[in-house]
Amino acid sequence: MRLWYGGDYNPEQWPEEVWAEDVALMRRAGVNLVTVGVFSWSRLEPSEGRYTFGWLDRVLDLLADGGIRVDLAVPTASPPPWFSLAHPDALTVTRDGVRLTHGSRDTYCVSAPAYREASLRITRALGERYRDHPALAIWHVHNEYGTPCHCDHAAAAFRAWLRERYGDLDALNEAWTTAFWGQHYSDWAQITPPRATQYLPNPAQALDFRRFVSDEMLAHFTEQRDLLRELTPGVPVTTNYVLAGWASVDHWKWSREVDLVAVDDYPTGRGMAAAEQTAFAADLARSWAGGRPWLLMEQATGYVLGPRASPKEPGEIARHSLQHVARGSKGAMFFQWRASRGGAEQWHPGMLPHTGPDSRVFREVCALGEALERIPAPSDEPPVVEAEVAILWDEEAWWAVQGPGLPSTEIDYLAAVEQAHRVLWRQGVAACFAHPSHDLPAYRAVLVPSLYLISDEAARNLAAYVEGGGTLVASFFSGIADEHTRIRLGGYPGALREILGISVEEFRPLADPIELPEFGRATVWSEVVHLDGAEVVARYPGGGPAVTCHRHGGGTAWYVSTRLDDPGYARVLARAGLAGSGIPGVEVVRQRDRVFAVNHTEDEQPVPLHGTDLITGRPVGGKLGPGGYVVVPL
Ligand code: GLA
Repeated sequence: MRLWYGGDYNPEQWPEEVWAEDVALMRRAGVNLVTVGVFSWSRLEPSEGRYTFGWLDRVLDLLADGGIRVDLAVPTASPPPWFSLAHPDALTVTRDGVRLTHGSRDTYCVSAPAYREASLRITRALGERYRDHPALAIWHVHNEYGTPCHCDHAAAAFRAWLRERYGDLDALNEAWTTAFWGQHYSDWAQITPPRATQYLPNPAQALDFRRFVSDEMLAHFTEQRDLLRELTPGVPVTTNYVLAGWASVDHWKWSREVDLVAVDDYPTGRGMAAAEQTAFAADLARSWAGGRPWLLMEQATGYVLGPRASPKEPGEIARHSLQHVARGSKGAMFFQWRASRGGAEQWHPGMLPHTGPDSRVFREVCALGEALERIPAPSDEPPVVEAEVAILWDEEAWWAVQGPGLPSTEIDYLAAVEQAHRVLWRQGVAACFAHPSHDLPAYRAVLVPSLYLISDEAARNLAAYVEGGGTLVASFFSGIADEHTRIRLGGYPGALREILGISVEEFRPLADPIELPEFGRATVWSEVVHLDGAEVVARYPGGGPAVTCHRHGGGTAWYVSTRLDDPGYARVLARAGLAGSGIPGVEVVRQRDRVFAVNHTEDEQPVPLHGTDLITGRPVGGKLGPGGYVVVPL
């Protein structure tokens, strides 16, 4: 089985004469899978119930003749203008009460009955039409689910979700602490989504709304999935997750429902920072997939986020792709095949740039296609050797930190988790992500970066892990609140106090950086920490404990009560026994039957590998050239 290679293909943006050239160039580039129809609803159903499948028939036939398979999309991310005009109640309402207008994409309310019905109709029509088409390989439902709506449909669905969660209003009032500011609800009908209000909204309401939105979108997904499974049993159904700073869904929960975890990855940094972010994204995807193969559904041949869009540097397209494949991706896909001439994303780079095939980018795309052809796709067994270190990842904790009224606006959950991953990556320590309630004993160490919210169940799980001999490294603002964002009393961090052997009396957010002897610069946050069994590893300039270590049961729990820069955090990890021997910028990922090595530096580097490179067929003798990459079978 070959690795998948290709990208979003939007032929409806081009005259039909271009399609044959597309297929010819795809073949030249080694493309074997394209995602078709993600935003094609208005071209497939130009008015209610009238379908125009002819063009898509011709596209799929052309692709099938060219030996290219299709990840066929259900186009529900972009309802047609006629739909929005006919069903204005299905348009998104923002928290400020503004009803959005069509003219972009993702402008719908996932709770609106008309939208749900129309979604199922177009899904059924596509499923029935293409169920036996030889090009069909994967179903791609929607695109990057992530549009919250605050309208009355959403309010009704939110209330139903809350009834299911809490059973009665007393439980909800208690969980939301509505006694504060006189918010007590005496009828379900009084509850709304967190709409614009005079001052701070209720944090528990805000968090439950994020949970609801994720579940509501998942219900939309599973409706389409179930219909497609019925029509085409055996064809996997997926949807592409959006990564980076925008976590719109509970990925652990969603990953149990998709047949194939698929992610889109657009690093915001450049150079080494992009390589670090790519590894982070791929390890997240791998972890959500539970170690099974998954798919990098979108990436770009350039940098699209940040202040300056530009192409990736020579070699980066391949190196980033290899980072994903090394971590178990079934292939490397892009958005999009041919860069658009017009439209909102006309400056988004393509595999085939505006310049055309006679371009550096297209030559690199072809070279990558050739390289991927030589690497067999992973089997369905977990391909990647399990990491020894787990970093806890929980969207609910992130959403809670994005809530209102916290003691500092500078606590950045994503940055904390990224730092933990980056520091390990730079030292060549393989990491994965785990949910706080996952089974942890297999890991040598568990890192807990700024996990504000921890449920009782998760707290018991972490305690059992340490008592059973594990090493836990928690950083500031972890274990503070329960699942309803209520503070755990009696000294912070209530959920972890006992295993950490400390009690925090006060938080002291920092306006200016301070220096900790041996551990360097500390920013954002500090605490008044009392020891309750733990030893001091580092002190604040005033003498109070800043970093501590506690032997608890058979294991050890470390606590970092401030935000350290990367070298300081690396030093804590080293003290906790987590120093790696990797060379910075040289990435080595072990799969069961082969090893991937990628050199992100501009110098030749030693790599602990000898054998024959699957990509070039050349011997690998313990060295890797600048920017080079190899795959060596074991
Ligand atoms: C996302 C979307 C694509 C496209 C790209 C590029 O990943 O899924 O449709 O918009 O971003 O911005």
